[in-house]
Amino acid sequence: MSQLFATKSMEQLRAEAAETGEHSLKRVLGPVNLITLGIGAIIGTGIFVLTGQAAAQYAGPAIVLSMLLAGLASALAGLCYAEFASSVPIAGSAYTYGYATLGEFLAWIIGWDLILEYALGAATVAVGWSGYVVSFLADFGLLIPPAYTAPFGADLVEVAPGHWQIMAANLAAQLTSQGIDPASLPHVTGIINLPAMLIAALVTMLLVVGIKESANVNSVIVVIKVAVVLAVIVAGAAFVNRENWVPFIPQNRGSFGDFGWSGIARGAGVIFFAYIGFDAVSTAAQEAKNPQRDMPIGILGSLVICTILYVAVSLVMVGLVPYTQLGVAAPMAVAIDAARAQAAGTAWAGIIGILPFLVKLGAIAGLSSVMVVMMLGQPRIFYSMAHDGLLPPWAKKIHPRFRTPHITTIVTGCAVALAAGFTPITILGELVSVGTLLAFVIVSLGIIFLRKNRPDVKAPFRTPWVPVVPILSALVSLALMASLPLPTWERLIIWMAIGIAIYFGYGYRHSELRKRLAAGKR
Ligand code: ALA
Repeated sequence: MSQLFATKSMEQLRAEAAETGEHSLKRVLGPVNLITLGIGAIIGTGIFVLTGQAAAQYAGPAIVLSMLLAGLASALAGLCYAEFASSVPIAGSAYTYGYATLGEFLAWIIGWDLILEYALGAATVAVGWSGYVVSFLADFGLLIPPAYTAPFGADLVEVAPGHWQIMAANLAAQLTSQGIDPASLPHVTGIINLPAMLIAALVTMLLVVGIKESANVNSVIVVIKVAVVLAVIVAGAAFVNRENWVPFIPQNRGSFGDFGWSGIARGAGVIFFAYIGFDAVSTAAQEAKNPQRDMPIGILGSLVICTILYVAVSLVMVGLVPYTQLGVAAPMAVAIDAARAQAAGTAWAGIIGILPFLVKLGAIAGLSSVMVVMMLGQPRIFYSMAHDGLLPPWAKKIHPRFRTPHITTIVTGCAVALAAGFTPITILGELVSVGTLLAFVIVSLGIIFLRKNRPDVKAPFRTPWVPVVPILSALVSLALMASLPLPTWERLIIWMAIGIAIYFGYGYRHSELRKRLAAGKR
């Protein structure tokens, strides 16, 4: 029983980190690559889609405060991730940190949980990507049959010529408030989300070819999406109508989360998705040239840059149009569109005129890079788990020429494609959030164990104010988890039960650490 909580020794972890040769990953990433990797994973569906919806439904202009709150939760967890990543520079992220501090069983639990964050995270973004691409193509008259753009059984309604949306309570309410009877519009039943599956397949192919290639593609996309967000901030700021900021915190309408202070909290829970990804930097630890110094730079650097961009861009968005108009699929484009009329005849006219188009293009490119980083992280976690004997040996195979974990990359790609093809975005998104927050809670508490039980671990980066920061981090993450609906918790519990069954069916019997302990070695 005590073996369930056996931890890996530091010598063993250092030896694993130092492994080189054709069976190991290539060390090619510097600090800038790592920051770009983080930004690549962070800026995506959250800022391009969810900000507007959270402002319109929950927080109003105070979405800016929700942004700060979610950024704070992420920063607290980020400080804990940074210490771990600089002390245990191995590819498995939170899974490896768990193994070093909390023991094999909890490490497996985290590893299994991370599948929700990475593989399902990629699937969520694939569905978001599909939505943007289908609508972008429709703007040019290229129509994809709607039944092939939504999961099986989804009820699609044509809200504008060529533009279809999945029927949901808030859409019905919105249409009714505009005097449109939803039943009078054309309806189609979904079969499969083919564009989402296609992007999953393309990203998988890129990732098999190589980390450097993937990092390069990611860097180009990051430049594009940061440029788009900056352009919206700078050009939009010139046309902000301060009246849209008043009242900054709309009065609560009676129930929890319906504006007011509780609306800010719920907005933070929703917008938290926008920050997910900074921790993905830690999965590339074995491909970093100098992980001990550069991992904290990558994790915290990307988080700080994105928090500043998010706060600024949301302030501009709710300043450009009344927040009630932002509950749409492409809120950033809608906000900037509002500035177009005012910009006519000014020096801004040119850039503002093409910005809505650029925003859509930036979102499409941006969402693909989120997928690249998520789908790059997942196989590296599997790689670490297989290395420890908790997954079968094929999961740690490295391609002899490309030096990438090609088999797990392909398995991940298939899982992402299937989930994206057949599951609605809301179910996926909430599962991703609950899974990620659970990982944050465990990693934060892990820091306390690290300091207490592993004085042998000397990290170049140390989380400040331990145990205050880790405890606060765990509490804030738990609070955000509590704001998620009950069915999400039920799915999390079922997923974890499957994971525990697999551990006792396979990992428990094949664990390398257990074999070493049985042989009297550590
Ligand atoms: N933060 C990432 C996004 O918003 C997951 O798409």
